[in-house]
Amino acid sequence: QEDDFKKVISHAKEYGYVFQSSEIYDGLSAVYDYAQNGAELKKNIREYWWKAMVQLNDNIVGLDSAIFMHPTVWKASGHVDAFNDPLIDNKDSKKRYRADVLVEDYTAKIEAKIDKEVTKAEKRFGNAFDKKQFLETNPRVVGYQEQINTILKRLGKSLENEDLVDVKNLIEELEIACPLSGSRNWTDVKQFNLMFGTKLGASADSAMDLYLRPETAQGIFVNFLNVQKTGRMKIPFGIAQVGKAFRNEIVARQFIFRQREFEQMEMQFFIRPGSQKEWYETWKEKRMAWHLSLGLGAENYRFHDHEKLAHYADAAADIEFKFPFGFKELEGIHSRTDFDLGSHEKFSGKKLQYFDPELNESYVPYVVETSIGLDRMFLAVFSNSLVEEELDNNTTRTVLKLPAVLAPMKAAVLPLVKKDGLPELAQEIIDDLKWDFNVVYDEKDAVGRRYRRQDANGTPFCITVDHQSLEDKTVTIRHRDTMEQQRVAIADVKAIIHKEVDM
Ligand code: GAP
Repeated sequence: QEDDFKKVISHAKEYGYVFQSSEIYDGLSAVYDYAQNGAELKKNIREYWWKAMVQLNDNIVGLDSAIFMHPTVWKASGHVDAFNDPLIDNKDSKKRYRADVLVEDYTAKIEAKIDKEVTKAEKRFGNAFDKKQFLETNPRVVGYQEQINTILKRLGKSLENEDLVDVKNLIEELEIACPLSGSRNWTDVKQFNLMFGTKLGASADSAMDLYLRPETAQGIFVNFLNVQKTGRMKIPFGIAQVGKAFRNEIVARQFIFRQREFEQMEMQFFIRPGSQKEWYETWKEKRMAWHLSLGLGAENYRFHDHEKLAHYADAAADIEFKFPFGFKELEGIHSRTDFDLGSHEKFSGKKLQYFDPELNESYVPYVVETSIGLDRMFLAVFSNSLVEEELDNNTTRTVLKLPAVLAPMKAAVLPLVKKDGLPELAQEIIDDLKWDFNVVYDEKDAVGRRYRRQDANGTPFCITVDHQSLEDKTVTIRHRDTMEQQRVAIADVKAIIHKEVDM
C-alpha cells in the first residue's frame, strides 16, 4: 500500500500533475502546486461538478464569494469557539500529534494484524477462501475488530464531551498495548484552532483581525437573501460555489489529501424546516450517483454515518473513497438545520427569513449541505487511475486510465516519421481539433514509445498520421485502455473524440 502511494506521488510529479510548493526552497509542508496537466485535470473535475450541480438543476445557482469575510462571520458560524483539533505533544521526541489521528494510527496497527490473519488464511485455504465469511467468523479477527470499535467509540465519546483527560489516558493505554511512538511521556491534550489569522489595513492601530475562510459555506449563508431575492428563488433551492479554503492542519502528510490551502466544492440546499431528513437522504443518493457516474468502481465507495456530529449538524455522513492508504473521507453531506442562518440573524441583527407563499408564513430555512474537497477528488481520480498492466508479450505498461471526460489532454497527434509531409498534415489536424479539445503534438522517439508516454499521461486517444494518410485522408486512432487501433477518415476524428470526452 505504501509503495503504491509513493508511486502515485512520483507519477504526479514526473508527468506534470502536482509539485511541492516552493520546491527550490525545500518546499512548504502540506502546500502543493498543480502543474500543466494537474491544472487541466483539476479544472475538468471542477467543471464536471459544476455542470452536475448548477447547470443540470434548475433550482441551483452559482456564487463566487470572497475569501476574506467580516470577522464576526466566524463567531456566528462557531469556528472561533469550536473549530479545533485536539493536540498532544510527545515530550521526548518533541513531536506534535493530532490526538484523534494518533488514536487512529494505533487502530491501524490492529487493522494490520487483521490483514496478516487474512493473508495467512488465504495461503492455507487457497481458492476455497471466503474472505467475507472469514472476517465475520474468525474469533481472533472478530476480537481485533471489536477492539478497534471500542477504541474509536471511546475516542468519539471523549471528544464529544470535551473530556481531553480521557483522550490522553486512551493514548497512554494504547501506547502500552501496541507501542507506536516508543515513548510514554505525553503532555496534556489541548485544543488548537485551525483558522489562519491575518490583518486588514495598514496602520497598526486601525488594522482589523481577519481570518482566511476555513470553508466556503459561510459565503453562501451570508448571501442567502441577496441571491434568493435577486434570483427570485423559491424554496427548495440551492447555492453552489467552488473556492479556496484554508486550515492550519497539524498532520501534514498524505500528499494532497490534507493540505493547508485547498479547494472546496460546496452546495447549500435551502429547505422547509421539517423536510431535512428527506432532503438529506436525497442528497446522499444524488452525490453517490455523481461519483459512480465517473466509473471508478462502486466497490471503492462507501457511506460512513457520523455518530459524533459537528457543532452545526443534526445528521451527517461521509462518502468515503478507497485511497491508496485505505478508505477515507472524500465528501461530507450534512443536515445543518437552521444553525447557520439562525446564528447569522443573531449576530448581524438582520432578518434572514424566507416568506413561503404556499404556507403563507416566514421562516429561517433549514439547510442540507454537500461538501467535497476538489483536491481530494483529484487524488481519488488520479490514484485510482494509475495502473501497471501486464501485457501479452510479458512486458508491462504504466497507464493512467483517467475517465476520458476528465483527462487533461484528449488526444495526441503523432506523425509516424518526421518527414515526407507527415508533420505538416499532423499539424493541420491539430489546428482543426484544438478549437474543441486540448491536443498535443509528439514526434520524438519511435511511435511505440510515444504511445507509452501518452498512456502514462492519461491521454485517451493517439492519432497517428502515416503515408497512407497523405493518399486517402485517413489516420489510425488508438484507444488508450484497449490499445485497439482503428483506421478512420480524418474528417470523422473530431466526432469520435467528442463522443467519448464530452461531459
Ligand atoms: N462546509 C462543511 C465543511 O467544510 P468538512 O468536512 O470540514 O466540511 C468538507 O470539509 C470537505 O473538504 C472534506 O470532505 C474534504 O474533502 C475537504 N477537506 C477538508 N479539509 C481538507 C484539507 N485540509 N485538505 C484537503 N481537503 C480538505
